[in-house]
Amino acid sequence: MKILVTGGCGFIGSHTVVDLLNEGYEVVIVDNLYNSKIDVLDKIKKITNKDVTFYQYDLCDYEKLQEVFSKEKVDAVIHFAGLKAVGESVNKPLMYYENNLFSTINLLKAMKSYNVKKIVFSSSATVYGSPKSLPIKEDFPLSTTNPYGTTKLMIEQILTDLYKADNSFDITILRYFNPIGAHKSGLLGEDPNGIPNNLMPYIVKVATRELPILNVFGNDYETVDGTGVRDYIHVCDLSYGHVLALKNSKSGLKIYNLGTGHGTSVLELVKTFEKVNNVKVNYKIVERREGDIASCYASNDKAKEELGFSPKYNLEDMCRDSYNFVKTNQ
Ligand code: NAD
Ligand code: UFG
Repeated sequence: MKILVTGGCGFIGSHTVVDLLNEGYEVVIVDNLYNSKIDVLDKIKKITNKDVTFYQYDLCDYEKLQEVFSKEKVDAVIHFAGLKAVGESVNKPLMYYENNLFSTINLLKAMKSYNVKKIVFSSSATVYGSPKSLPIKEDFPLSTTNPYGTTKLMIEQILTDLYKADNSFDITILRYFNPIGAHKSGLLGEDPNGIPNNLMPYIVKVATRELPILNVFGNDYETVDGTGVRDYIHVCDLSYGHVLALKNSKSGLKIYNLGTGHGTSVLELVKTFEKVNNVKVNYKIVERREGDIASCYASNDKAKEELGFSPKYNLEDMCRDSYNFVKTNQ
């Protein structure tokens, strides 16, 4: 079976490509390398000893996309490509709407014209807005607070409408919670440009002394220690969720949370990171970050029951692997 992986050179995409190759799938990657590097392909080869076909194309270019579909005869698509920085999306909304929506519409148009009916889409827990209760279930009300999140919600709606119009589509929407960690080899991981927005990449840079101190955004939330609680999931558990989604082949529109079901506070994550890596992470408490919610963690019962999803890695593994990736690539 041949899978088109859009955004396959990125953080989650590259880990998923490794899983797909290890499971015997053929892989075609389309990525414009806007937020990733070409050497990821060599690293994937080093880990799996298998080749992928790569096109450095922008999904917003419909002609190029048609070329890929006509040459490759893919059976299914996993759609990771997109811009993902929440703060940047507030300042550059048109860039986010243009990239994330045009690319997806092009992709779906090409799929329809080449009769490819199976797609797995990367959505986000951000579509739950500020949840009324926890853990978050898939049927909770949806809302967003920033253009990035709105693109995810709009794409979910586009997929829903597409399925209504054509019931032969097999669509899986995966709502990720907070992916961290890295591949055990130290070859693949998250390497954001500039100053990171997300917690784990920031902690790592404080640990390696690239940044002086972690700002902890608020300690007056109603949580175990006042700091924000999130559901951190190892990127390798998350990536394997995509293999499970592909294997669960039946037409329909299926939505799953991919998280561990456990909430961890900022300070709990910092303490675990310090302990397993035997390193100091200096931090100070600052004002809350605008738009943040106190707590967010998944109910992953549906993914467990219907996909056989079963996260293997704990918080210590996530902290160890995140640090190992950065140390290996310093
Ligand atoms: P990433 O930025 O590492 O990977 C995305 C890849 O898509 C990059 O390699 C980028 O170059 C490529 N890309 C972007 N626009 C493109 C276009 N128009 N044409 C071709 N390639 C394009 O991001 P990631 O963390 O691997 O996230 C993958 C997906 O998961 C994204 O859709 C993201 O919104 C979603 N997601 C991520 C998180 C997270 O915390 N990392 C959480 C929830 C959802
Ligand atoms: N935090 C800090 N200091 C930092 C960065 C983060 O204290 O320097 C705190 C935040 O306040 C929050 C927690 O760490 O309590 C996690 O923050 P992240 O920015 O790592 O993650 P978010 O949960 O805010 O958002 C992420 C992605 C979104 C996605 C969401 C759910 O950035 O795109 O997870 O999947 F929508």
